[in-house]
Amino acid sequence: GKNIVITGAASGIGARTAELASQMGANVICIDINTPKHHYGTFLAGDLSSAEGVAKIVDRLPKEIHALCNVAGVSGEAGADITLRVNFFGLKMLSESIVGKMFSGGSIINVASIAGYGWRTNAKRASAIAHTSGFPENMASFMEQNDIANELGYPISKEALLVWTQLASQQALFKDKSIRVNAVSPGPVETPIINEFRAVLGDDRVNADINKVGRPATPSDIAPAICFLCSDGARWINGHNLATDGGLEAVVNKDTF
Ligand code: NAI
Repeated sequence: GKNIVITGAASGIGARTAELASQMGANVICIDINTPKHHYGTFLAGDLSSAEGVAKIVDRLPKEIHALCNVAGVSGEAGADITLRVNFFGLKMLSESIVGKMFSGGSIINVASIAGYGWRTNAKRASAIAHTSGFPENMASFMEQNDIANELGYPISKEALLVWTQLASQQALFKDKSIRVNAVSPGPVETPIINEFRAVLGDDRVNADINKVGRPATPSDIAPAICFLCSDGARWINGHNLATDGGLEAVVNKDTF
């Protein structure tokens, strides 16, 4: 089996991805700040919100990793600072740091969101964030410089992630080892985080999105897409964003075209 590292594996999409990958014969290494209820493979407690936290995780990871699934994320409810740290800077640093422990031909999957598609209208800001190396020393001034309103941390973190997915797929660090970098973008998924989205965006907004596609997704609607992108069957897919939103983007776009 392949050795697959999965962040955010204690809950929701990450937990289901860990379960499915194990069922398919992978050795999974689960990372989360919280302890999972059900254990699949090995569990490493770790915090992705700081450079020190990421370094500690990387130290404890074995060599010979085939794939990294960056699933951990926060909703934005706690403000843009922590949201950018977990959803973008920590994820990016983990990915860059893990390359030395990965097999060539490996795969990195970033779980973004339909909420990140705003980069298409503000590519300049997303690009500036995506090009930032490490964690910004002063997050408050970084947010000011890049026009990041505190309540927009979530969509902006996901915009930057989608832009960085494409950049990374073409970056020598990954490309020289033939490591593919792709994204998976869900619409609303029934996991604990959705209650926080309801608190931040309001029930009406979340329900409207769900109604457009008939139901919320379950983690089982998303995990297979992540596992597919880990697999050799996805060997010719690179720098791609795979929407797993039940058609939500198409529903929204049909009124625009
Ligand atoms: P969840 O809340 O069930 O799982 C997120 C996991 O990330 C939790 O286990 C949490 O402990 C972990 N985590 C949070 N901060 C961390 C940190 N500092 N270090 C390590 N782990 C940390 O939510 P869900 O739905 O499974 O979310 C997974 C991903 O899917 C997230 O990136 C989220 O933004 C994305 N997503 C979710 C959608 C939804 O409606 N549920 C929609 C679109 C994207």
